[in-house]
Amino acid sequence: MALLRSAVWSALVSHKQEIEKLHMRQLFQEDANRFERLSIRWGSLMLDYSKNRITSRSMELLLDLARSVELEKKRDEMFAGEAINSTENRAVLHTALRRPSGYSLEVDGLDLSSEIADVLAQMKDCCERVISGTWKGYTGKRMTDVVNIGIGGSDLGPCMVAEALRPFAHGHLQVHFVSNIDGTHISETLKKLDPETTLFIIASKTFTTQETLTNAMSARDWFLTHAADKSHIAKHFVAVSTNRSKVVEFGIDEANMFRFWDWVGGRYSLWSSIGLSIALFLGFECFQELLNGAYAMDEHFRKEPLEGNIPVLLGLLGVWYNNFFDVQSHAVIPYDQYLHRFPAFLQQLDMESNGKRVDKQGNTVEYATGPVIWGEPGTNSQHAFFQLLHQSPNFIPADFIVPLKSRNPLGEHHDILLANCFAQTEALMKGKNEQEVRQELEAAGYNASEVNTLMPHKVFPGNRPTNTILLDELNPYTLGALIAMYEHKVFVQGIIWGVNSFDQWGVELGKQLAKAIYPEIQGIERVSCHDSSTNALINAYREARMKNLPDANPQLSFFDEI
Ligand code: F6P
Repeated sequence: MALLRSAVWSALVSHKQEIEKLHMRQLFQEDANRFERLSIRWGSLMLDYSKNRITSRSMELLLDLARSVELEKKRDEMFAGEAINSTENRAVLHTALRRPSGYSLEVDGLDLSSEIADVLAQMKDCCERVISGTWKGYTGKRMTDVVNIGIGGSDLGPCMVAEALRPFAHGHLQVHFVSNIDGTHISETLKKLDPETTLFIIASKTFTTQETLTNAMSARDWFLTHAADKSHIAKHFVAVSTNRSKVVEFGIDEANMFRFWDWVGGRYSLWSSIGLSIALFLGFECFQELLNGAYAMDEHFRKEPLEGNIPVLLGLLGVWYNNFFDVQSHAVIPYDQYLHRFPAFLQQLDMESNGKRVDKQGNTVEYATGPVIWGEPGTNSQHAFFQLLHQSPNFIPADFIVPLKSRNPLGEHHDILLANCFAQTEALMKGKNEQEVRQELEAAGYNASEVNTLMPHKVFPGNRPTNTILLDELNPYTLGALIAMYEHKVFVQGIIWGVNSFDQWGVELGKQLAKAIYPEIQGIERVSCHDSSTNALINAYREARMKNLPDANPQLSFFDEI
């Protein structure tokens, strides 16, 4: 592998061995300016990356690595609309969705700027009509609820943003997200809704996704049991998709279709009409602010020299741990309850993008291509898995995301929240050594034998890296910038690893096999054509199904219809 054989990679391997024993405590003690050197203030966002296991030399080498793979050139190719998604021969232009209109860029013979502006105008018009109540349901009532039916990128982004920006909602509409094929998700959601005042958004790039189409059909059935007349569907169902014919086949009026394009990847699509649920819930202006924040981060990523470029630095630090310290996971801890879906959103963004076993040329890669992303809001996570972050044998780097201003300034809550956040990054960095533990135990009156017994349990090795991302406040603009920051971080890493960050072939095999198993589950014959485990599992379900649903007939026609 060229990357592994490159001089800069070898230099990083040696450098890691040299600095491995260095403790960040010592690095902070030796350099009073460490924070100044290793932090960036960018508008209302600040990145503190000083609590990382790096020296100036580490950063020099990592930046050399970025240059050696021509990161800047490849970044520019993405922005210019080159078909960098090589296995699907597509451009990757989610950045065009947030760029102020009036630029000139053509893809597939279409003028992007005016295409995008048209769809934004259609979204704006829809928002105005639904929010003001001029959009009426089949009994003449205004809409009170919007249900986004989608999965993966057609759910995670909009759902995360709607939750994160809930305080900005105008309050005329409630929004709900249904993604899981488990009938519980749609059933529990529908229980709360009135068909006369509910608007469904069927959000699917391909409009062939099993989960989304099945949920959409159940929603349509539920609606028609009340509304009776199919012509009423036009007032209660809209679609967001790239697949016009499938939308029409489903029975949704073409006028109620919001298009987007192949060059918008599913996990990068919240900026497109997939964001309709966001725009309806928050109002179009808020959606526009989200786009503006993302655009500002795009400009930073595009123009800032690498050494001060936030997504570049975050990407390189991730590579540093993933490839040189063999770290296999990365925690994301938002200290903001409104960001509770942010780690779930990042999981798809990061792992579906870079979880690849071959490079763009199809060669097997011999290095890790991305960590497992996981996390939960602080402080809940402190009482769940921080034990492992502090004292497990292997370290796990973490990003702490912290809005300085609370949307709910209740008593001392925010002060306590932030005290906890800063204490955690300090504790992870500093740890507590044997001498400190000994002194503490002795001061508390333990005898020598008790001190020796307890000591190993109470030592914190520290030297555990964190990035802290401070936002002045969480608002549509800063959230847009934050999401774009992570998108570009993932891009940077994909370029270093040489993988295609914009396809997702790894999700296909399971879908194919499910298609084969589905009729077997409904059949009357015992299944014996798989391995013994799969046969036994299918048969266990078949038998339970026959007992639980003796009259069940295959009635769902998903695989026939689609
Ligand atoms: O899980 C695979 C995937 O293709 C994702 O990439 C995508 O976001 C999701 O399914 C939903 O796809 P669609 O929007 O086409 O329904």
